[in-house]
Amino acid sequence: MKEDIINRAKDVLDANFQEGGFTIPSKGLYPFQWKWDSGFIAIGLAHYNTDHAKKEIETLLNAQWDNGFIPHIVFHTDDDSYFPGHDFHRSDLHPLSSKKYKSTGMTQPPVTGFILQDMLNIVDDKEDMLNFIEEQIDKVYDNHVYFYENRDPQNEGLVYIYHNWESGTDNSPVWDDIWNTMNPPEYTFERKDTTHVDASQRPSKREYDHYLYIIDIAKQNNYDDAKIAELSPFLVQDPLFNAMLIKSNQALINLYGLIGGNEDKIKRLLNWQSKSIKCFNEKLFDSELGAYVHYDLRNERAIRHITSSSFSPFFANIPNAERAKTLVQTMMDKFGGEDKYLCASFDPTDERFNPRKYWRGPVWINMNWMLYIGLKNYGFTNMASQIRKDSIELIERYGFFEYFDCRKDTGDEKSTGYGGDNFSWSAALIIDLLKG
Ligand code: SER
Repeated sequence: MKEDIINRAKDVLDANFQEGGFTIPSKGLYPFQWKWDSGFIAIGLAHYNTDHAKKEIETLLNAQWDNGFIPHIVFHTDDDSYFPGHDFHRSDLHPLSSKKYKSTGMTQPPVTGFILQDMLNIVDDKEDMLNFIEEQIDKVYDNHVYFYENRDPQNEGLVYIYHNWESGTDNSPVWDDIWNTMNPPEYTFERKDTTHVDASQRPSKREYDHYLYIIDIAKQNNYDDAKIAELSPFLVQDPLFNAMLIKSNQALINLYGLIGGNEDKIKRLLNWQSKSIKCFNEKLFDSELGAYVHYDLRNERAIRHITSSSFSPFFANIPNAERAKTLVQTMMDKFGGEDKYLCASFDPTDERFNPRKYWRGPVWINMNWMLYIGLKNYGFTNMASQIRKDSIELIERYGFFEYFDCRKDTGDEKSTGYGGDNFSWSAALIIDLLKG
């Protein structure tokens, strides 16, 4: 059974690998290279095709801008089956954007640091991988410099995102509080995602108006970070994004340690690291809810809802032992139970929860993978095993979908997985979970 899933997962990844040296997340729905997808995909590839794993990361980093920024989508081809495409995003407006690659002008969670370290842990030929890392690591470091220098206006050690697509958790109900502060125009455009996936599983037209409006403001200011910080109606310190930055800081510290030299960079990373962890714990933990929450920097208030991102600090060793216990208790109380798979992306006891709609409730394999590693490291072995078991069961039951219903009984005999099928990171991370 295990070998069968691994072989099917490899088939998904191989079918999605493109001539340009990158892997699309899912045929039809996502026809380009996405930043955090590429990272998770490289982990799966590292288990059986080191060349493709290296290529995946190299191709992504080749699209880096001269200011260290790494975009969320790299439009390698002129495929017009996706909206909004490069002609809407217009990355060329930024003076330091890549001249060679068309991309968006927004980013996605900074996974690349910890991905490099995982790739090294996975492969047999450590020397070869360390050589590759030595070639690439400064680009990742420059990306962290970009974040700390441009995305932390109050110098707190926490970086902001200026668009919900930067979070990766696109239509999470936490953003509803921000949409309520905005009133964007009604845009006329043709949705492409809903030609591939049932509209009930995707964001609404009105939500897309908000998404496009924020991009328009950024474009009017040529994607200038200082202007965006001043003007964007969406400016959020996201626990998932910052946890991944912290995890990647630590990976860069470890990797530079292995490579040798680079003391100045290690020192800078260590400074960011202690400041970030401290502020993360002071500012983003909500003791009443017993969980980490998002902070709306534009409107200066916490967004008090629990999501799977609330538990992501486990992955980056952020909570102390006592707080970790509280966090696990919250997860068990609200997200656990015999009738559910772990871990819903949004609090199932909250009225905004929707078990079918993208990031408003369904289970995602990348979040489960992070939570599994984090919980295991903290010694919460039962909870970690449960998450791993649930992830494998979902893939066995439904296939390599993008996201899944957390209810074991959906009330529908013909229930399936949701979103894109043959989804690359679901395949890649299941390989890692099964081999780990
Ligand atoms: N995931 C987004 C989409 O749905 C973009 O990053 O198109």
